[in-house]
Amino acid sequence: MATIRTDIAKAKTLLLQNELVAIPTETVYGLAGNALEATAISKIFEVKNRPSFDPLIVHTDSLEKVSSFVTEIPDTALKLAKAFWPGPLTLLLPRSEAIPDLVTSGLDRVAVRIPNHSLTLSLLKTLPFPLAAPSANPFGYISPTQVKHVNDQLGDRIPYILDGGACTVGIESTIIGFEGEEAVIYRKGGMSIEAIEKVIGKVKVQQHSSSNPKAPGMLKSHYAPKKPFVLGNIDALIKEYTNDKVGVLSFKKHFPEISADRQITLSPKADLAEAAQNLFAAMRLLDQMEVEIILAEPMPQEGLGRAINDRLERAAAQ
Ligand code: TXA
Ligand code: MG
Repeated sequence: MATIRTDIAKAKTLLLQNELVAIPTETVYGLAGNALEATAISKIFEVKNRPSFDPLIVHTDSLEKVSSFVTEIPDTALKLAKAFWPGPLTLLLPRSEAIPDLVTSGLDRVAVRIPNHSLTLSLLKTLPFPLAAPSANPFGYISPTQVKHVNDQLGDRIPYILDGGACTVGIESTIIGFEGEEAVIYRKGGMSIEAIEKVIGKVKVQQHSSSNPKAPGMLKSHYAPKKPFVLGNIDALIKEYTNDKVGVLSFKKHFPEISADRQITLSPKADLAEAAQNLFAAMRLLDQMEVEIILAEPMPQEGLGRAINDRLERAAAQ
């Protein structure tokens, strides 16, 4: 089983040997390896059971280091980096030869992010290379926001989990690419579109599709629990599924007709940041409960609500 500690020196030793280490970030836990070494990158794909066409995000701790593995940073990207790094934002930038093909699945752009977690920033600072890290879950399943989530699923496949507590943002980073100076959002995430537009003006949002995605995070079915997951008006759904033992995932409301131990309310005080923080842990709990089907409702379509709804829609997609 994986060792679970806060020892950065130990994590560094393993990473230097091309081993994998699960690392905490403010969004979700990542499954990290040396981004410049094909041996380490291959292990990431293998452990996650991830198809090789799905590229990885490269994590580092300074803009200076980013400059060493991209060929250009457009002005719009620089503005965003300065406003939001470290933070839940990933930028797609033209990669230099330092980045192996495996990391980008052969694409010309590399995804880059400076995560906002003190333990991981300290680790990145002492490392002579950046870290490639997808979310630390088996491909297609719900991302991990706690050490326990990582350990439950990957604990017997990796040597070390750096324990940084529960993730404070709770959903993955927002991914932005650039067509010239125009910014395009490829994945809604922990940095709200409203906050981004305050810095660079109107952005385009690319809808996800089920085939040939530009960012495979755009795959229609993803973040999926194993149980059937239905998204809609919970009152109506409860009436429709009277013959099934249902679990409920709601935003702020309790549903008295369903027993309390089979429902999770993401934020009784209707705070979308709190809802995001709780989302993936709640989906995992419901997946493990003795229920046959999970009924969920969309959040208000604003701020982090839009990123949460994206995850709910994809969990519900077949
Ligand atoms: O918050 C996050 O972004 C977390 C933490 C660990 O940093 N990471 C994460 O990684 O969510 P992952 O691999 O689960 O999702 C990354 C997404 C994938 O959908 C991938 O397709 C997309 O980013 N991506 C990575 N590199 C890309 C590239 N060069 N071009 C287009 N999309 C890319
Ligand atoms: Mg993922």
